[in-house]
Amino acid sequence: MQFHLHQHDTKQPTWMLITSQQLDHLKSQADFAPLATLIDAYAFKADFNEVLTGVNSQGHIVYLLGLGDSEKLDATKTQKLATTIVKNSQNKHEAISVDCANLAEKLQPLLVQAISQANYVFDENKSEKSKAVLNHVDFVNAKALTQNDLDYCKALHQGQSFARDLGNRPGNVCIPAYLAEQAIELGKQYPELLKVTVLETKQIQALGMNAFLAVAQGSVNEGRVITLEYKAAGEQKPVVLVGKGITFDTGGISIKPAASMDEMRFDMCGAASVLGVMRALCEAKLPINVVGAIAAAENMPSGNATRPGDVVKSMSGQTIEILNTDAEGRLVLCDTLTYVKRFEPELVIDIATLTGACVVALGKVYSGLFCDDEQLTAQLRQAGEQSHDRVWHMPMAEDYQDGLKSNFADMANIAGPYGGAITAACFLKRFTKDYTWAHLDIAGSAWLSGDAKGATGRPVPMLMQFLANRAKKA
Ligand code: BES
Ligand code: MN
Ligand code: ZN
Repeated sequence: MQFHLHQHDTKQPTWMLITSQQLDHLKSQADFAPLATLIDAYAFKADFNEVLTGVNSQGHIVYLLGLGDSEKLDATKTQKLATTIVKNSQNKHEAISVDCANLAEKLQPLLVQAISQANYVFDENKSEKSKAVLNHVDFVNAKALTQNDLDYCKALHQGQSFARDLGNRPGNVCIPAYLAEQAIELGKQYPELLKVTVLETKQIQALGMNAFLAVAQGSVNEGRVITLEYKAAGEQKPVVLVGKGITFDTGGISIKPAASMDEMRFDMCGAASVLGVMRALCEAKLPINVVGAIAAAENMPSGNATRPGDVVKSMSGQTIEILNTDAEGRLVLCDTLTYVKRFEPELVIDIATLTGACVVALGKVYSGLFCDDEQLTAQLRQAGEQSHDRVWHMPMAEDYQDGLKSNFADMANIAGPYGGAITAACFLKRFTKDYTWAHLDIAGSAWLSGDAKGATGRPVPMLMQFLANRAKKA
C-alpha cells in the first residue's frame, strides 16, 4: 500500500472528514453547492461515523464522513473512522484521497496506521481472492504529517501485517521449522542489519533447556530456538524481545476441550510480533540494537509427550514439576529467558499468549503488563497510549509466589485457580533476576474471535513506538 502527502490524481474519490460544527460553514461555500443539496435531502448531520456519498462541482466522487463533535473525537473513534473509509472504498476504488484538514493533528498518524491495517486481507488459502484492496491512499491537508511519518507508518504496516500473516497461517503450515525459515528469509532480505541463528533439538539439548524440550518432545515437528540480532547502534546494549512461539497448543496430555481449539494456532502470536518488530525495524532502519528470540514448539499429546507430574531441570538449574502440560508457554519461555542472558541485555521484554486468565481480566482491549521496574513500566504504558495499542499494569507481588510450591521440585508450573495471569508472570519472574524485565500477556489482544477471527498484529505498534522513543532519546 502506497501513501502520499499530495493527491496523485485529482479525479480519484476523496473522503472529506468534517465535524458537525463545520457543516453549516461548508454548505455556504459556492463550489460545495451540489453536495449541499444532498446534505439537506438526506439530513446529513456529520454525526460520528455518518457517511454521505455525492459528487463535487468537478463531477468527482466525494464521501462526506462525519466526525461528530470535534471535542469528543479520540483514538478509538479514529480507528472506527478508518474502518469505515476502507470498508466503503475496498472493491470499489484502487486509490483514494483523505482530506484531513479537520482531524486533530495528534490523531493524523493514527488514522494512517488504522487505514493501512483496516485494509489488511488474508485470503491466501481461498480460491476466490478479494477483488481490489486499496493500493493507494493520499493524505491531503494533513498538516501534522511529514514524509518521515508516512515512512514510519509504512514500515510499521509491513511489520504488523507480517505478524498477522504468520498468526493467521494454520498449524499444519506454521510449524516451528517454518518460523525458523521465515526468520532466515528475513535475514537474507536485510543481511547488513540482521543476523539470524536457529538452534535445533541437539543444540537445545546441549544447552540443558529441558523445560523447553519437555514441551517440544511431544510433537514430530521439532522445536526451534530462533534469534535475530538487529544491530544499528554500534556497541550499545540491546533490548531483547522474547516471543512465545507455540505453533499449536493442544494442551498436551492435559488436553484442551474441543471448542475453539482451532484458535490455538494463534499461540505463536508473541513470536509473530517479535518477527513483525524485526521486519519493521529493518524497514524503518531505527538506530538501535534489538535482539529477537523465539521459543518455537508445538504442544502435542503423544507417546513421547510429557506426563503431568514429570520433573525437569531448567537451563537455570531450577527444577520444575510439570503438573499441567497446558501451562507450556512458561516452560518454553523460562529457558529462553535464561538463554538470552548471553546477549547482555539492557532490558528484556517477553511477549506471550500466556493465559486464558488474562483474557478474563482484561478482555481483548488491553494487553497485560507485568513489570517491577517503574521506568520501564512508564515507558511501555506511554508507548501503548501513543500507538493506541494499550497495556495495563498488573500486580506481581511476592505474595503470589506461594501458589507455585511443589512437594517434588523447586516449583510447580501452575498455581491455584485464581489470578492465573499473575501466577504465570510470577513463574517467569524466577528466571529473570539478572536483568530488567517486563512481561506482556497478549492472550486477549493478539487475535479476535467470531466473525472477525484473525490475528491483530498487536503489540507490534506499541513495541515499535517504544523502540522509536528510545532511538530518539539516544
Ligand atoms: N495458550 C494458552 C493460553 C490461552 C488460552 C490464550 C485461551 C488465549 C485463550 C496457554 O498455554 C494455556 O493453556 N494456559 C492455561 C494455563 C493453566 C493450565 C494454568 C490457561 O490459561 O488455561
Ligand atoms: Mn497451553
Ligand atoms: Zn499456550
